[in-house]
Amino acid sequence: MSKVRWAVVGTSDFALDWIARGISLSRNATVAAIVSRDAARGAAAARRFGAEHRVSSIDEIDTTVVDGVFLVLPAAIHAEYAIAAARRGLHVISEKPMAPSVADCRRMVDAARDAGVVLAVAQCMEWTSPMVRARALLADGAIGDVVTASISASFTAQPDAAWLRDDMRQRGAGALVDMGVHAVDGITRLLGPVRRVSSLMGTRFPAYAGDHSATLLLEFASGVHGVLQSHYTCYQNGLEIQGTHGRIWSSEWWGREFAGNLHMQRGDEVTTWQLPRVNVYVPQIEHVSECVLTGATPVISGERGLANMAVIEAGLLAAHAGGWVDVPAQP
Ligand SMILES: NC(=O)c1ccc[n+]([C@@H]2O[C@H](COP(=O)([O-])OP(=O)(O)OC[C@H]3O[C@@H](n4cnc5c(N)ncnc54)[C@H](OP(=O)(O)O)[C@@H]3O)[C@@H](O)[C@H]2O)c1
Repeated sequence: MSKVRWAVVGTSDFALDWIARGISLSRNATVAAIVSRDAARGAAAARRFGAEHRVSSIDEIDTTVVDGVFLVLPAAIHAEYAIAAARRGLHVISEKPMAPSVADCRRMVDAARDAGVVLAVAQCMEWTSPMVRARALLADGAIGDVVTASISASFTAQPDAAWLRDDMRQRGAGALVDMGVHAVDGITRLLGPVRRVSSLMGTRFPAYAGDHSATLLLEFASGVHGVLQSHYTCYQNGLEIQGTHGRIWSSEWWGREFAGNLHMQRGDEVTTWQLPRVNVYVPQIEHVSECVLTGATPVISGERGLANMAVIEAGLLAAHAGGWVDVPAQP
């Protein structure tokens, strides 16, 4: 097998314009099938991407022509679809957030392990240029020992957008689960696991059906301090890491097909990089497909998705209970 044959499950604009297109632009993956409850929409999508197979459910997928599923579905049903696919021996990439609860994430991890299939969570912002460069700089010890960090993932979302109202109703939480998960994933990949969390959730703009703002105070297992924010009501997307010998910062660290920016200061010396423009969905699918082909574990594994959700659950609990909430150590 030189190319992994993926079924894209879901036919939203995002599913087709970014995920299916990302697969079709990749070197080691192909869109083999479209799964849609709507026959006409599914057929049109299959034609667009040259997929020969179009079905309406996981059960109908012909596993002789499909190796795995890319779930681009509302988060509330990721677990149900992922478990059904794993039981059929299909590899799974679930869109972020992995599932609305740690318990659901664990069921997904268990099902994939029992079936011996790869489970990945589409934390696509792992591949933004500022993130990739920041990881390399920290790995080289470029700013000494890290002391403190802040990260934000926000955008101005219209409160009456159908997806936003549906998400908030289904999950009972907004910005932290939806976008904050990118920030949780990004900062923990840079700085390791979080030990405990304290948080504030915002509901002061009543047009939103749930929490439109989240600010988390983080204590990492290493002792590093952190602040993480996610808002639907402003455009705040910075990253800053301060170390004993300097700092790294970006005013825009995440985006779908962009370069972003990254700077570093050590003493009086400031470096700014010209970063490459990257469509993050292409390296994401190439990485997970490579793992399917070689048997390696994806960096965006199911376990990692579960660990991200554990931080978010602790944040939600802390917002309502007050004080600090410990994040259970993840396997
Ligand atoms: N990483 C990113 O950059 C990014 C960006 C946007 C969204 N996302 C994530 O992608 C996922 C999907 O988001 P979306 O905006 O595409 O969602 P969506 O438009 O609500 O749903 C996506 C597709 O799921 C199918 N679907 C909807 N409700 C369903 C149900 N009750 N049962 C079965 N299928 C159903 C529909 O396909 P059919 O009608 O064809 O069956 C729909 O086109 C979410 O987890 C979201 O957080 C990620």
